[in-house]
Amino acid sequence: MSLEKSAFAVRENAYAPYSNFKVGAAVLSEGGTIYSGCNVENIAYPEGTCAEAGAIAAMVAAGETKLTEVFVVADSKQPVSPCGGCRQKLAEFGSSDTKVTLANLDGVRVTMTMAELLPGAFGVDHMDADHQDRD
Ligand code: THU
Repeated sequence: MSLEKSAFAVRENAYAPYSNFKVGAAVLSEGGTIYSGCNVENIAYPEGTCAEAGAIAAMVAAGETKLTEVFVVADSKQPVSPCGGCRQKLAEFGSSDTKVTLANLDGVRVTMTMAELLPGAFGVDHMDADHQDRD
């Protein structure tokens, strides 16, 4: 199944009884495997998890830590916009030129790079050891 089809398919399994907003995400790993995830909500609202987090968790659980492409879909007017937290989560395992496609069910797609999705991402460079332990 393609990355796009995987995201559309897993979206069907989203557990979103509170928002009624189902999201599907699929990531392609460096090893060439597709991992997918959907949002899983909870009656204790903050405990819900995003689709992107689910796809990343599946990839890491399978022993992979690098993704090369991302596809996210929801039934939104504009292609779904990953939340800030998920942008940082995706950046952790992708690179600045990783292709990210956002889509809705009407066939509208926006493709961008990870750097465009999260400009100025917090990264290891910001934790330069020379600047640690400074009061
Ligand atoms: N959501 C995602 O899963 N991914 C996104 O990119 C945007 C938002 C979920 C979280 C929540 O379950 C629902 O969509 C409404 O915010």
